[in-house]
Amino acid sequence: MPNIAFVNGRFMPLAQARVSVEDRGFQFGDGIYELIRSYGGRVFHIEDHLRRLEQSAEALGLSMVYSKSRWKAILEKVHARSGYPDAKIYIQVTRGAAPRDHSFPKKARPSVIVTVRKMTPLSPELREKGASVLTVPDLRWGRCDIKSINLLPNIMARQKARSAGAFEALFVRDGLVLEGAGSNVFAVIQGRIVTPPNGPFILPGITRDLAIALAREARDPVIEKGITLEELLGAEEVFLTGTTTEILPVVQVDRKPIGDGRPGKTTRRLYQQFLQSIRP
Ligand code: PDD
Repeated sequence: MPNIAFVNGRFMPLAQARVSVEDRGFQFGDGIYELIRSYGGRVFHIEDHLRRLEQSAEALGLSMVYSKSRWKAILEKVHARSGYPDAKIYIQVTRGAAPRDHSFPKKARPSVIVTVRKMTPLSPELREKGASVLTVPDLRWGRCDIKSINLLPNIMARQKARSAGAFEALFVRDGLVLEGAGSNVFAVIQGRIVTPPNGPFILPGITRDLAIALAREARDPVIEKGITLEELLGAEEVFLTGTTTEILPVVQVDRKPIGDGRPGKTTRRLYQQFLQSIRP
């Protein structure tokens, strides 16, 4: 079954998809993106992802090009054409191709790219045993709430983590743990689920919102407040949320064990609730 792309109105095999070298996404990282999962042939939380794409577009003065209903139709179509029931769907919207100049081009039309690939799930062993994470200084800019394609600090942080044998990097700014290079972070502290509040230094994760809703459904208190590194290290449980990460237990931070060094019961239960929620 093929990996499929949609580029500016045309569907094609991914291997044939091209954008211009003049594209401002390539020249400046002047663009935004979304990553959406499908489960069992259904595109997951499509409305939420389109809403966040729109927020990113608005923040950068970018056009969404298509209406929400057209976007939905494109996503469903490109997904159906791939034939993958469990897929990763990437959307990229850039300010388009124009002669290189920092200021916005007068005439460029945004480039819209959607690509669909087969989802390879995380290893069952990682899910069962839990992940280790490495904290890193947050070198990113002041608008981490925009899902921008500028991902250099995220890439550098993730690579640092992987080189140290850790699964994810956690950004720390002014003593507060904010989020992962590609995930949000939660902790269970004195029996309460805590996660940093949305704001300029955090991506408002779709899975984060879902985890909060699932916790509240189970009558677990959730508090949105800053988490210091010290609090994280002393937490009973830590977990990550994200579109591909789903809900993943963390059992080590900077090589120190969290709780008894095994996935905690709240995290396990939330993951079971998450699995329930993806069933039609
Ligand atoms: N990343 N924080 C950051 C910095 C992210 O890049 C992501 C997602 C998240 C989690 O958001 P969500 O639950 O909406 O996926 C938080 C995607 C998966 C990526 O790396 O492409």
